[in-house]
Amino acid sequence: MSNSSRITQDVGLACDVLLRGGLVGIPTETVYGLAAIALNEDAVARVFKVKARPTSHPLIIHVSPNDDLNRWGMMNEPAQQLAKTIWPGPLTLLVPRTSLVPDWVTGGRNTVALRIPAHDMTLALLDAVGDAVVAPSANRFGQVSPTIAKHVINDLGESVDLVLDGGPCAIGIESTIVECTDSSVQILRPGKITALEIATITGITISEMDGPSRAPGMLLAHYAPKAKVELTSSINEAQERRDHYTNSGVTTQIVHHEDSAIYALSLYDDLRAADINGIEVVIAVLPPDEGLGTAIRDRLSKASASN
Ligand code: TXA
Ligand code: MG
Repeated sequence: MSNSSRITQDVGLACDVLLRGGLVGIPTETVYGLAAIALNEDAVARVFKVKARPTSHPLIIHVSPNDDLNRWGMMNEPAQQLAKTIWPGPLTLLVPRTSLVPDWVTGGRNTVALRIPAHDMTLALLDAVGDAVVAPSANRFGQVSPTIAKHVINDLGESVDLVLDGGPCAIGIESTIVECTDSSVQILRPGKITALEIATITGITISEMDGPSRAPGMLLAHYAPKAKVELTSSINEAQERRDHYTNSGVTTQIVHHEDSAIYALSLYDDLRAADINGIEVVIAVLPPDEGLGTAIRDRLSKASASN
């Protein structure tokens, strides 16, 4: 099938492909995911293969609000409060798994990552399928996440059977991952939902993210374009560095937006554009360490770590 004929807005068609064990790119409010039915071992194995992702990096199970969450995970009090307040929304909860959750999803771990995404098309798809899907970001392992349908085809080519086109993702960077496996609440990956919001909802002080993260896949190097990524703390510094590079004949692109919501929305597209334009060095300006800025700083520091 040609690339354009594999992009559709037909939820029924996407449902058929999933039920036949196929892989479908799905829109969410954060980034596009690569979906397969969670309980189909062969389909999930293909997700790992297509992404070139080690099976030790487990997948998030995406569920419908009409599904019973208790089938999949043991939701303690803070997890229930967060789910009730934020889902459907850009939050993933890491909780102890039930016996229904297969080892091929969690890499044998005794926890499972669950999320109800806020995208009408994908919620309709989950209901049509009548079961949960796994959906890691629909990019090759270690690279930049897709935020429009075409990115998925560009990244994964023939190996994805269909992409459900739900337009550009509303947030542009991945969900906040919160671990609720005991009485503490810890952020494993920052996102749109902030530590302050989580603390307010649960009434529990959030343990700071420091040292090596416990979530596999939170590698130091990730979210990386082909261009070298350098970090600066102000636009002036970025411009000085750009001038220095230009004098030595090195091509650069400054990545920066004053508004963190717009920065998040454009970040991955900006990094992709740099590669398409054959840019050698991306000079990114770090946003303030608050709100979405914290999540952008996290992604940028990982993108720069693989230089
Ligand atoms: O916004 C998002 O979360 C997107 C959209 C598509 O929903 N998904 C996403 O999935 O970012 P992925 O696979 O690219 O990132 C999920 C991260 C991985 O680093 C994975 O290792 C971690 O969550 N994870 C998943 N299950 C886990 C588990 N049981 N224990 C620890 N970490 C887990
Ligand atoms: Mg990912």
